[in-house]
Amino acid sequence: MSAQAQSSEHLRSALAEAEAQYVRANPKSEAQFRKAEQSLPAGNTRSSLFYRPFPLTVARGEGASLWDLDGHKYLNFLSEFTSGVYGHSHPRIVAEMQAAIGDGLNLSSHTTGEANLADAICDRFECFDKVRLTNSGTEANIMAMVTARAVTGRDKIVVFKGGYHGGPLTFVGGASVGNVPFDFLYGRYNDLETTLATIEPHAQGIAAVVVEPVLGAGGCIPGDKAFLTGLQDWCRSQGALLIVDEVQTARHHAGGLQPVLGLKADIATMGKFIGGCMPIGVFGGRHDIMERFDPRHPDALAHAGTFNNNVMTMRAGLVGLTEVYTTQEARRLTKMGDAFRDRLNDIAIETGAPIHVTGVGSIMNIHTQSGPITFAEQVALENKEIKDLLFFEFLSHGLYYAKRGLIALNVCHNRADLDRFAEAFRNILTKHAPLWRELKGQAA
Ligand SMILES: Cc1ncc(COP(=O)(O)O)c(C=O)c1O
Repeated sequence: MSAQAQSSEHLRSALAEAEAQYVRANPKSEAQFRKAEQSLPAGNTRSSLFYRPFPLTVARGEGASLWDLDGHKYLNFLSEFTSGVYGHSHPRIVAEMQAAIGDGLNLSSHTTGEANLADAICDRFECFDKVRLTNSGTEANIMAMVTARAVTGRDKIVVFKGGYHGGPLTFVGGASVGNVPFDFLYGRYNDLETTLATIEPHAQGIAAVVVEPVLGAGGCIPGDKAFLTGLQDWCRSQGALLIVDEVQTARHHAGGLQPVLGLKADIATMGKFIGGCMPIGVFGGRHDIMERFDPRHPDALAHAGTFNNNVMTMRAGLVGLTEVYTTQEARRLTKMGDAFRDRLNDIAIETGAPIHVTGVGSIMNIHTQSGPITFAEQVALENKEIKDLLFFEFLSHGLYYAKRGLIALNVCHNRADLDRFAEAFRNILTKHAPLWRELKGQAA
């Protein structure tokens, strides 16, 4: 029996009780949700933030903490879906943004800001000879794919089931009908053999293979090194470009995951923390490819965007990258995340809960099944009722993460914060031990 199919009266009533407690505790968030629904579908403008019965409305944040409209304080373990590596109000970034406002907004020309930030990005990440800046990771990925099609003269783009490259590039739980209409081929993540069998018949039409080093929104499933380098070798042998989406993983180690995994993309994309809390996307890579964006090139490609060099992002991003989330700090947070994930997995095993935490470094995902988890389709099968139960239980302990199980650490988290999460994890899993025994009994 799949984990999803397993349920019980006890599980349903534990979830109903946790949800009812949430509703009782959050009347102001509920009222705000009803109000927002009048002008926003389901009261939101980011699908990933919606959950039933209504999402929390957050009023403010400071350091690693959030306060909701009803006045509850939470330690934020979501960190803005990994973008918020600086916490909510890092003093150095706030000071730089205030200085940027003082120098005037919307400067209507080149500024030193974009050159300084691009220089720092190229310095830190080996894959970039040159970069272009956008306003989101989504836009960066669309530009990377458009560029690959233009440079190779081919149409097809290989992506992976369970992959996520932005709202209109969603392949989690199957390709979204809202996706951009590229000619996609679908590989199986962490399965080189099946992927090559699917794409090889189309080799001459493939412009690019687009892959995340860790399947992020698909459940923080680490990419197998042999799988990823196998894709790289295949691209090189077939004249297709390798696009590595490091929008989430650029925060790991000193320079993202590519050097660690033996990868060097033809085009890579980044975003999230690189804007220093402000919106950003980055695409870039090989000199000969990026030269096509030089308007003096005979076959120049256009890439405009009013806010591509907005002064807030340029300045916040630069101090974030060079003064706050330095390579040393990135190494520290990666190590801290690896140890924290191991600690949570030890607790899951000790308590006998059908729980496993996947991930790399400071980004991880709680799953409601035992490990190992290697393939995207395993995540699709997991027990959503347990996931919901854990989420509401953690909220009642003043701990916030994504309902789908995503946890991202930030530089404001200290040892006491991690201890608090781990203790709550142990308490919640222990409290529901009879439930785990019952579900195990069903599966046997
Ligand atoms: C791997 C990956 N690529 C692309 C994106 C899209 O970035 P953005 O939300 O800035 O458009 C995300 C966002 O979560 C992501 O995780």
